[in-house]
Amino acid sequence: MAKVISESMGELYQHCPRVATIVTAQAKGKENAMAVALHTLLSFNPPLYVISITPERFTYQLIVDSKEFGINFLPFGEAELVASVGGSKGQEVDKFQRFNIAKDRPVKTAVPILKAAYAAYECKLFDDRGYGDHRLLVGEIVAVHLLKEALAPEKVLDLDKVSPILYLGKELYATASGDTLRKLDREVYGRR
Ligand SMILES: Cc1cc2nc3c(=O)[nH]c(=O)nc-3n(C[C@H](O)[C@H](O)[C@H](O)COP(=O)(O)O)c2cc1C
Repeated sequence: MAKVISESMGELYQHCPRVATIVTAQAKGKENAMAVALHTLLSFNPPLYVISITPERFTYQLIVDSKEFGINFLPFGEAELVASVGGSKGQEVDKFQRFNIAKDRPVKTAVPILKAAYAAYECKLFDDRGYGDHRLLVGEIVAVHLLKEALAPEKVLDLDKVSPILYLGKELYATASGDTLRKLDREVYGRR
């Protein structure tokens, strides 16, 4: 197996699977949902979560206007919904109606929370900065919605109950299952 070295950045997105999420927002009576694969937890204290989206997205405008967003983690069975909200524009269509998306009530913000999500965060906008062609939107998590059954006794995701949506790029989706789980204690492995 040979490695190739390239100075072209074209395929960067495809090098690692990313958890596909649905980011939600609302402002001035309009609500919207978009697929987001570029995101991560940034800080535990305060609890900060960051998403990276381009300023052309309708969702970006709603977040700038309301200073809030929601991030929804869905089971693999909802991958088609991710493709649907990621393939349509809120400027042209009411995605909640078109895709028949059921909502839960938010508690600390006005962002739509998806009923199908096994976990969802309500975030207040903490920072909005441009990096290259994307905006890095940092949100302070002010409420967490969690399906109790999604967690194993160790308080990690129970992969026998919830399969996350992994996005490989090029419209390809996969998941992770419990039969691949291995526990590798860092204290033990760090001293080997
Ligand atoms: C799986 C998937 C992941 C995506 N991830 C991102 C992302 O991280 N950032 C981004 O700006 N757009 C991303 N997109 C594209 C947006 O979801 C898409 O442009 C959407 O139509 C934007 O909707 P809006 O204009 O209604 O806000 C992704 C699309 C898909 C299908």
